[in-house]
Amino acid sequence: MTSIDTKSLNLPAGPETPYDINTTDESFPIIADYIAEYGNFTLIKPVSRGNNTILINAPDAVKAILVKNHENYKKGPGFERVKMLLGNGIIVSDGAFWRRQRRLIQPAFSRKCIDGLAKKMQKANQVWLQRWTEKAEKSELLDVSSETSELSLEIILRCLFSDDMDKLIEQEGKNPFEILTYDLARDMQFVLKFRALKSLVQQLMDERRESSTRYDDFLEAFMETKDKETGEGMTDKEIIDEVMTLIIAGHETGATTLNWAWYLLSQNPAEEKKLQDEADKVISGDIPTFEEVGNMPFSRQVIEEALRLYPPVWLYSRTAIVDDKVCGYDIPAGTNIFFAPYYLHRHPDFWDEPEAFKPDRFLPEEIKKRHKFAFIPFSAGPRRCIGDYFSIVEMQIHLGTMAKKFKLEYVADEKGVELDPQVNLRSKNSIMMKLSKR
Ligand code: HEM
Repeated sequence: MTSIDTKSLNLPAGPETPYDINTTDESFPIIADYIAEYGNFTLIKPVSRGNNTILINAPDAVKAILVKNHENYKKGPGFERVKMLLGNGIIVSDGAFWRRQRRLIQPAFSRKCIDGLAKKMQKANQVWLQRWTEKAEKSELLDVSSETSELSLEIILRCLFSDDMDKLIEQEGKNPFEILTYDLARDMQFVLKFRALKSLVQQLMDERRESSTRYDDFLEAFMETKDKETGEGMTDKEIIDEVMTLIIAGHETGATTLNWAWYLLSQNPAEEKKLQDEADKVISGDIPTFEEVGNMPFSRQVIEEALRLYPPVWLYSRTAIVDDKVCGYDIPAGTNIFFAPYYLHRHPDFWDEPEAFKPDRFLPEEIKKRHKFAFIPFSAGPRRCIGDYFSIVEMQIHLGTMAKKFKLEYVADEKGVELDPQVNLRSKNSIMMKLSKR
């Protein structure tokens, strides 16, 4: 515990029993209980963390910590395991090193670059369209959880390595990164298997340096990028850490959002119909072009509403590095802060009928009426997700493509639909759909 005299501080109320919140299914209902009992701020004593935790469920405090006073905080608990996986990639790094990496990487996420990467998203969806067409013709059930997971992995890998992926598949006899879709445990064994993949990225970099072929992908952008201040680029180790970061950060988040989006649409046929109407009206061919995606606002609203109800990153943290004061409460240095978008996104003060799927909440005039920081699926401030626009475009291309061709009907089984709150908010069991051609 910090040696501060906590009696003189204004701290929120909280339970007597110590507890360490984590991204686990055990913590998920406990957090709900804290919010129900203590409201927007809960002080939780530590079991093994050393310092108190404050659980925050108020948009004003989100703004203060993630935006206004962001310099008073670093990444918090829960990132240790991610660090083992990702080395010092930008999701886990802090301070001057993080700032430099963000500067070096940001240009690869510009609108112009996403326009280029959209071609790879379209190509992948063309393959998936064929797959789904064959399934529909054979009346096979669609495991939408696996389908979106595999698609999302294919997209991020092609955006990183382009057709070099084919070389790796041939060399290894299979897609070496497919462990991400079938090995769902994120334990030490997974860490070791995942780390072994780093040598493949090194191999690709070595081969590219010997070749004159140009690539329109993240790996090339990372190998070429130079710091404007120093003229220096990244070391190979830094590039590898950032590549691995994008694979982890970019794969499961998009996959789970699409999984939930299809499920929500299947439960709300009127909204599914609106999506189909938009796809019919806007998409001239099979797959939306980058320009057409810009004219599909409803598909974006569907994604935002899915992100509201099932934010993949449902819990994330910070640690105060200096004393701070937020919304009247003292936050002594060392305090851990947790935000739980899953609960904030259902806060009855900011959302009417919070449990209902209503994409029209994200009409521009509705967004204007709401507190900006009541919706934080991508976090906020300087550490906001770098892949937010990338992933929205990726998901719009997928939803538009499939909504134009198919209707998906949820097939209930005895397992039902259950949340599996781990690092990402997955569904516990595969969601199965009956697929019909429209
Ligand atoms: C639905 C899709 C996604 C969601 C919901 C999501 C969510 C998030 C959140 C909440 C954070 C911040 C965590 C924190 O503040 O502690 C974050 C950071 C990050 N995300 Fe995403 N993400 C998504 C897709 C992607 C994609 C597609 C990529 C890459 C292609 C990506 C790359 C990153 C990176 C590199 C960071 C760290 C940024 C930094 O700290 O500077 N994400 N994401």
